[in-house]
Amino acid sequence: MKKLLALAAMLAAITSATSAAAAPDAAKVEKTYSTTCLACHGSGIMGAPKVGDKAGWKPRIAKGKPALYLSAINGVKMMPPRGGNPGLKDDEVKALVDYMVAKSN
Ligand code: HEC
Repeated sequence: MKKLLALAAMLAAITSATSAAAAPDAAKVEKTYSTTCLACHGSGIMGAPKVGDKAGWKPRIAKGKPALYLSAINGVKMMPPRGGNPGLKDDEVKALVDYMVAKSN
C-alpha cells in the first residue's frame, strides 16, 4: 500500500510538472521583461517606447517584427543590445519583443 501511495504521488508530481510546462514560458517571459526591459519600457525613459502606449508603438510595429527583433538583439540608439542582458538568447529576446508588442497594439 505504501508503495502504491508513493507511486501515486510520483505520478501526480509528473503530471503537474508536464501540465505546467506550457505556462512557464509565458511566466518566464513576463519575469524577464520585469527584470530586464521594464526599467526603460515601463516608464518610457530615454525615449523608449512605453509598453501599452499604442501610438508610440505604431510606427515601430509598422517596420515589421523582424526589424524589431534585430533592434532588440543588436540595440538601437539608447536601446542596449538585448536590453543590456547578454545572457539572453535570440529566441528569448524575440519572445520579449512579441510580449511587448502584444501589449502595445
Ligand atoms: C536602458 C534602457 C532600455 C532597456 C533596459 C531596454 N530598452 Fe528597448 N529601447 C530603449 C530605447 C531608448 C528605445 C528607443 C530607441 C530609439 O530611439 O529608436 C528602445 C526601443 C526598443 C524597441 C523598438 C526598436 C525599434 O526598432 O523601433 C524594442 C523592440 C525594444 N526596445 C525591446 C526591448 C526589449 C525586448 C528589452 C528587454 C530585453 C529592452 N528593449 C530593454 C531602451 C531600453
